[in-house]
Amino acid sequence: MKKYCDKTYKIISNTEIGQGYFELKIQAGAALLRACKPGQFFMLTIPGVFLRRPLSVHDAKDGEISFLYKVVGKGTKILSRIKTGGLSALGALGNGYPLDTPLLPIIVAGGTGIASVYFLASKLKNKGILYYGARSKKDLLCLDKFKKLGWKIVVSTEDGSKGFKGYITDALEKQLTANKEPSRDAKLKNLLFVCGPNAMMKAVFKIAKEKNIKGFASLEEKMACGIGNCQGCAVKINGQNKMTCKDGPVFKIEDIEF
Ligand SMILES: Cc1cc2nc3c(=O)[nH]c(=O)nc-3n(C[C@H](O)[C@H](O)[C@H](O)COP(=O)(O)OP(=O)(O)OC[C@H]3O[C@@H](n4cnc5c(N)ncnc54)[C@H](O)[C@@H]3O)c2cc1C
Ligand code: FES
Repeated sequence: MKKYCDKTYKIISNTEIGQGYFELKIQAGAALLRACKPGQFFMLTIPGVFLRRPLSVHDAKDGEISFLYKVVGKGTKILSRIKTGGLSALGALGNGYPLDTPLLPIIVAGGTGIASVYFLASKLKNKGILYYGARSKKDLLCLDKFKKLGWKIVVSTEDGSKGFKGYITDALEKQLTANKEPSRDAKLKNLLFVCGPNAMMKAVFKIAKEKNIKGFASLEEKMACGIGNCQGCAVKINGQNKMTCKDGPVFKIEDIEF
């Protein structure tokens, strides 16, 4: 049975929250809000571009679903200019992150990967540690929101304008190698949640393997249909072809073959 719906939602706001970054809020009913899981996404119809564009659910509460996105091309540029009216969207799609874990969550996010993991952090039982890397200070989003949730935050920027200078994976590895278990509670084992550019994810997977830490990653493949029909988002998972949109986008780290 199909669990998603294709309908037009009222736009509540579409605001620039940083240079080139926008938060879009659409009105949603109680049933959809209850059904939305962290890690799921919507395929948005944007006038003037051929295919729908996927955006992760950034939050879902108080009658609103929000999306956080970066303007990178034609579709997101047009989207950023739509301020009122209706927006057609297909969702909520995909499997989402598992939430029922007694372990201590470590989220590793790079760039707009932060969009899906805020909703995740807000729903996990245990407060954990966010490792968040971006190009520069101006590209770091949502830090106050994570602080409000009570999460510990480690940031890195490539230009050194805030936090650790370099890649966030270097900060994570350094901390783990120094034998400083990145844990707020020594009794709890860590569980990784990862979302970001492929190069960052590959580096995290290597660290996870070396340190024997389990986890989940949300993959971002180019998507055309979003519902498993076009085969355009195929990835190798544990030796088998899987569709990122329908079988994912969240997979076990140890099963992903880049
Ligand atoms: C499941 C999923 C969830 C996503 N969630 C978010 C989100 O919450 N926030 C956000 O900012 N972005 C997210 N993305 C990426 C977003 O869909 C693309 O940035 C967007 O579709 C680009 O559309 P465009 O027309 O502006 O750019 P295009 O003109 O189509 O492309 C411009 C540039 O963006 C790159 N690009 C296009 N599609 C993707 C993609 N799927 N992944 C990575 N790079 C892409 C292209 O290679 C090109 O360099 C998500 C992608 C997926 C698959
Ligand atoms: S986007 Fe069509 S099968 Fe995944």
